[in-house]
Amino acid sequence: MAFSICSTKTILFLFLISAVPIAFIISMELAKPLTHVYHYHSSGFFRECAKWDDLNRRFLVSFMDGGIGEIAVEDQSSSSEETILKEVTVVKDADLTGNSSLGIVVDRPRNRLLVAISDIMGNKYNALAAYDLSTWDRLFLTKLTGPDNFTPLARACHRDPRKGSLNNEKSFADDVAVDAEGNAYVTDAKANKIWKVGTDGKFLSFIRNPLFIAKEWYKNLVGLNGIVYHPDGFLIVIHTFSGNLYKIDLAKEDHEVKLIKVHGGSLAFGDGLELLSPTKLVVAGNPSGRLVESSDGWETASVVAKFKGPAHRLATAATVKDGRVYINHLLGMGYPKKKHALVEAVFST
Ligand SMILES: *[C@@H]1O[C@H](CO)[C@@H](O)[C@H](O)[C@H]1NC(C)=O
Repeated sequence: MAFSICSTKTILFLFLISAVPIAFIISMELAKPLTHVYHYHSSGFFRECAKWDDLNRRFLVSFMDGGIGEIAVEDQSSSSEETILKEVTVVKDADLTGNSSLGIVVDRPRNRLLVAISDIMGNKYNALAAYDLSTWDRLFLTKLTGPDNFTPLARACHRDPRKGSLNNEKSFADDVAVDAEGNAYVTDAKANKIWKVGTDGKFLSFIRNPLFIAKEWYKNLVGLNGIVYHPDGFLIVIHTFSGNLYKIDLAKEDHEVKLIKVHGGSLAFGDGLELLSPTKLVVAGNPSGRLVESSDGWETASVVAKFKGPAHRLATAATVKDGRVYINHLLGMGYPKKKHALVEAVFST
């Protein structure tokens, strides 16, 4: 029997299956949040990352359709729980149209914001951009993959005989961290490597390691993702689908990579990371937030507590504002004004 798209039965059927998740989402939206929430109106539905800019008392958010917004926060006295904040676009680069702005990190000593940029559909263009936090001037744009990426010398040095020029490797610049000297580390969620870019925007090297690649092919669909720089001189990185957590020692010549032994639960579907203190790490994702602690300098760690937020909005990043953790959610709701939620994570065991 033909299953016509236009038959009444089909329409009824489609209505029913779509009504279930919509009803679920509405009920989730109407539920009173149990923790503090900053709501803001936005020009777009998708906001991949949010970071608190302490000095300027604002959240900075990255646009999936390219660009950066700021959400100024007026403190307590004048704002009530119901206040809806407003997102203002501060970066919209015409030459990057068609690309997404993804992970961001505030590089405080150099007063700039670093932004991972990727063509998420084609995986053909990837870049790291830096913007001045006061003027929003673009300080550099470093192409990581895309046509004519490397100088001939760099190409000769980084050619992989099995894959030809790495320039053509399908990649996904997803998130970024910055070390004390201002070097940036950009995770590649597709090919499981890390690009290292110098303070001045010069591409320096790749960090590759067999440990970055999961044995099961499907676990590599979303690989290296959230990344943070630890003040003791190493990086902590998460592999989303496997849940593996890595420690990368930057003091060691070859950037030694170790798998952190994690007890007390899995970190699978972990996305953005943020350090709450040198011994406490927040993993945003599904569940919304997991609190991970280490007492031995991140050789081993334990999942000690969790936070369940509005799961239908998809938690993608965490940031710390005045000692409190806020979780960014990818999806905005509502039309024509899209309302986004930065939800305080209060962890419980
Ligand atoms: C991303 O930006 C680059 C650099 O300007 C451009 O060449 C490319 O076409 C853009 N990607 C898409 C999918 O539009």
